[in-house]
Amino acid sequence: MISQAQDPVERDESADAQQEWEREIDAMLDAGALDGNAAQFAQPRGADLMRRIDALESWHAARSSHGVWQYSRALDGAPHPIASIRDEAGAAARGVNFASQDYLSLASHPAILEAAERALHDAGPHSAGSAVLLGNTEYSLRLERALASLLATSHITLFPTGWGAAFGAITALVQPGDHIVIDQFAHASLRQGASASRANVVVNRHLDVAHVRELLGAIRSRDSDNGILVVTEGLFSMDSDSPDLPALQVLCHEYGATLLVDVAHDLGALGPGGSGAIGNQGMLGKIDIVMGAFSKTFSSNGGFVATASRSVKRHLQLFAGPHMFSNALSPVQAAVILECIGIIQSNEGDDLRADLLRNVTLMRELLAGQGLHCMGEPSAIVPVLIGDEQVSRLVGKLLFRQSVFVNQVEFPGVPLGASRLRLQLMANHNSQQVKRGAQVIGEAVARAQDALAAAQARHPTRKAQQFGTR
Ligand SMILES: Cc1ncc(COP(=O)(O)O)c(C=O)c1O
Repeated sequence: MISQAQDPVERDESADAQQEWEREIDAMLDAGALDGNAAQFAQPRGADLMRRIDALESWHAARSSHGVWQYSRALDGAPHPIASIRDEAGAAARGVNFASQDYLSLASHPAILEAAERALHDAGPHSAGSAVLLGNTEYSLRLERALASLLATSHITLFPTGWGAAFGAITALVQPGDHIVIDQFAHASLRQGASASRANVVVNRHLDVAHVRELLGAIRSRDSDNGILVVTEGLFSMDSDSPDLPALQVLCHEYGATLLVDVAHDLGALGPGGSGAIGNQGMLGKIDIVMGAFSKTFSSNGGFVATASRSVKRHLQLFAGPHMFSNALSPVQAAVILECIGIIQSNEGDDLRADLLRNVTLMRELLAGQGLHCMGEPSAIVPVLIGDEQVSRLVGKLLFRQSVFVNQVEFPGVPLGASRLRLQLMANHNSQQVKRGAQVIGEAVARAQDALAAAQARHPTRKAQQFGTR
């Protein structure tokens, strides 16, 4: 029982902690650690190409010295639900990890580790060539067949990264004069591929099929000679939502366009037998071009393009830069992905997806119960909308202190003013970890919002720091 005499001491301690926290916030505001955004530094101008980017360095210094630079953290060890993390400035913490991409927890599965070891001893650590030269191995050839069967299609082109698959597919298939209709929230690899293709690019409102129809109609009313690629994702990586794939595919047929769907985040982790959003929507084997990354569910770097068209595979072989001019997937990577596909298609895969969904459902319920807005639909990605970048930077700092790790995302990952916490759940999280994560996140958001409102009241005329070029 707490004695009467202890009360004032406890109050003093919490008053001290509150004052210390206010001092910390004021110091951050003075240094401009919460001001600015990456958009200000994206297109530097001036004759000296190296000096003109100095302003970014001073912005980084202000943020990093106050523990609100969220990028380039490192894991000490494997990406498990409990992990040790080090931030860029060297601060270390061990806690609950919602910041790694290993949706079915296959990276720590004994069969996967054994497959990696076997391939390492069998075939060595690297592929020793581009896939177009002598970079293929027995493992990569088997992987092509297994992936074709998972996707109910016939031709697979492998890439060393998912980024390369997206960029390579678009730049190889689309020519200047062609058209691209791309969802406004498509991943950077797709958008950068679209820009690099020098096609005419138009952006459709997120998931808006009627808008896609309008854009396709406008393009075809003036150009029946050139190709059109419609680009979307099976599950959007920052929003956790899916487009109406049957409707988009029908539209593409109607307007003589081709549909490309990036399934990086859903293949393996969602859908019957791990068939992703495409399987969920009854579209297996019916999408023109499917591309994806192995880096979220298949425990490996790497990417692919899957089609029923031999010509597409042949064309990518010669004209997709990251396929031809980059070393192929290593045999270890190919063996790991192959083993993952086996698990994903088995009963064990069903169980792992059920575990993942249980964690996701609990996390979304607990966060929503604290008034937080979880965007999109249940998937391994749980995006928690914060909006204001200052609040989300403070939340990120508090979470790191409390040993709950999430990715705090702001521009250029998402639009300005739409910052969010992106949690990525795994099958092997347990309910205690999910409950602790949800509680700490709820408290951190409330604390950050209160602190900034109080700081605003203390300094009503404060002006944001500008970080101009030196
Ligand atoms: C939707 C989407 N496509 C492609 C990629 C690129 O994949 P990778 O990181 O494996 O190269 C990512 C990765 O973040 C992604 O989220």
